[in-house]
Amino acid sequence: MPFGKNLGFALFALASSLVSTEAVTYTLSQDLSGDKFFDGFKFNESAIDFNNFGNVHFLSQSAAQAANLSYVDSNGRVILRVDNTTNGAGDTTFGRNTVYLESTQLMNIGSLMIFDANHIPFGCSVWPSLFTQGQVWPQQGEIDVIEQVNLATDNRYSLHVGVDNCNQPTSVASNQTGTISTAEGDISNCTVTPTTGQNTVGCVTTETKSNSFGSSFSSQGGGVYAMLWDTDGIAMWYFARGSVPSDIGTSNSPDPTTWGEASAWYPASGCNPSTAFGPQIITLYTDICGAFAGEDSVFSQTCSSVAPNCTSLVADPTNYDDAYWEINYLRVYTNGQSNSSSTSSTSASGTSSGSGSSSTGSTSSGSSNSALAFAVTRIWEYLLVPASVSFLGMLSML
Ligand SMILES: *[C@@H]1O[C@H](CO)[C@@H](O)[C@H](O)[C@H]1NC(C)=O
Ligand SMILES: *[C@@H]1O[C@H](CO)[C@@H](O)[C@H](O)[C@H]1NC(C)=O
Ligand SMILES: *[C@@H]1O[C@H](CO)[C@@H](O)[C@H](O)[C@H]1NC(C)=O
Ligand SMILES: *[C@@H]1O[C@H](CO)[C@@H](O)[C@H](O)[C@H]1NC(C)=O
Ligand SMILES: *[C@@H]1O[C@H](CO)[C@@H](O)[C@H](O)[C@H]1NC(C)=O
Ligand SMILES: *[C@@H]1O[C@H](CO)[C@@H](O)[C@H](O)[C@H]1NC(C)=O
Ligand SMILES: *[C@@H]1O[C@H](CO)[C@@H](O)[C@H](O)[C@H]1NC(C)=O
Repeated sequence: MPFGKNLGFALFALASSLVSTEAVTYTLSQDLSGDKFFDGFKFNESAIDFNNFGNVHFLSQSAAQAANLSYVDSNGRVILRVDNTTNGAGDTTFGRNTVYLESTQLMNIGSLMIFDANHIPFGCSVWPSLFTQGQVWPQQGEIDVIEQVNLATDNRYSLHVGVDNCNQPTSVASNQTGTISTAEGDISNCTVTPTTGQNTVGCVTTETKSNSFGSSFSSQGGGVYAMLWDTDGIAMWYFARGSVPSDIGTSNSPDPTTWGEASAWYPASGCNPSTAFGPQIITLYTDICGAFAGEDSVFSQTCSSVAPNCTSLVADPTNYDDAYWEINYLRVYTNGQSNSSSTSSTSASGTSSGSGSSSTGSTSSGSSNSALAFAVTRIWEYLLVPASVSFLGMLSML
């Protein structure tokens, strides 16, 4: 506070009113690219039960490197691939090798995550995602930044939370460029009900800018996704390569207020970003088939002319030449906003001198997720109808 305490009330009030328009400064807290990229992540071999929830095997770091599924290419880009050399014909339990990465550091409220890629996995049966999740699901929430399947061309953003009264008001239509896909009356409900499996897709907003996913994403040079999580809410942007704001990738303190309307906006008025989410693990992976890409009606939307069903594609390695991430960098910036400031009014947003909420937590301990719990997460998210029968059927296979 730069003012002496002898200043009159009027001046103080004026200063306070200026606070809300003052630019929030973001400072770099994690810069993951090239070989350093892998310092920021651990490879989780047990993230998912591939026999039941997708035709994949997640490898350790050393195994993935040996199989050439994770490396830095000659241009310094991080490549994360699905095996496209092994022929699985004749093996009914065949799954493709790939990787499931979880950040070693936790991301806290008051963070801006920027992800720059030239290629996102795609193809019939392919299900990539860049998302963040709390250490306890769904109590600590999940934020889906990139997630689509098969030959879809429009990215989907979503939230999943355990608390009630977390929704995306349909009134955000005038504050975001994306389209709210599902709505219950005047809201789109983000709350998961584990006991019934309802609200499985979360509160989805679909990207309307073209080339946000699929072959056209890479053919036009890739692009940038950004996610801002602060006490005002959660905002997500997509910028195609030719339309990336000039301060992204160049400035050490990018300013989201200059980027224009977000593609997806989840304001605090619909969902409390402080209480619905705990510190987040940044997660990056590719699944094959499973409950989303492999769901028959979803699969047939874009791939009915390619194959009768998802699993029939898995054995043929030539179906996976495009199932890879090519990443320029992932950066996390923080505005120093502390969680404790989140109970104050939004007028103070971003200006608290919060005690370094930049990621100092570690995800190596304290996780209460089990492989089953995580697998169930994905089931609840994507199994649309009829959820209960298929869900129980899959559980019984465990
Ligand atoms: C891997 O993922 C599973 C399921 O989400 C989780 O229980 C486990 O803690 C994770 N392992 C590590 C090392 O983070
Ligand atoms: C790994 O991929 C690189 C680049 O495509 C290639 O040069 C190299 O021979 C591959 N190594 C193996 C073991 O496949
Ligand atoms: C939408 O933007 C208008 C104009 O900036 C603002 O008054 C309103 O509060 C915003 N609504 C939401 C839900 O963010
Ligand atoms: C949102 O969904 C949850 C879980 O199904 C439910 O408990 C809650 O009542 C719903 N909220 C509204 C406003 O419909
Ligand atoms: C913020 O604090 C609330 C209440 O203590 C807690 O439930 C939530 O997990 C915290 N969120 C973060 C991001 O630390
Ligand atoms: C998928 O299609 C193949 C080829 O037609 C067929 O043999 C197989 O039974 C189908 N699998 C399922 C689960 O329907
Ligand atoms: C696997 O896919 C890569 C592109 O990701 C391609 O360069 C390579 O030739 C493919 N491997 C085989 C064996 O087709």
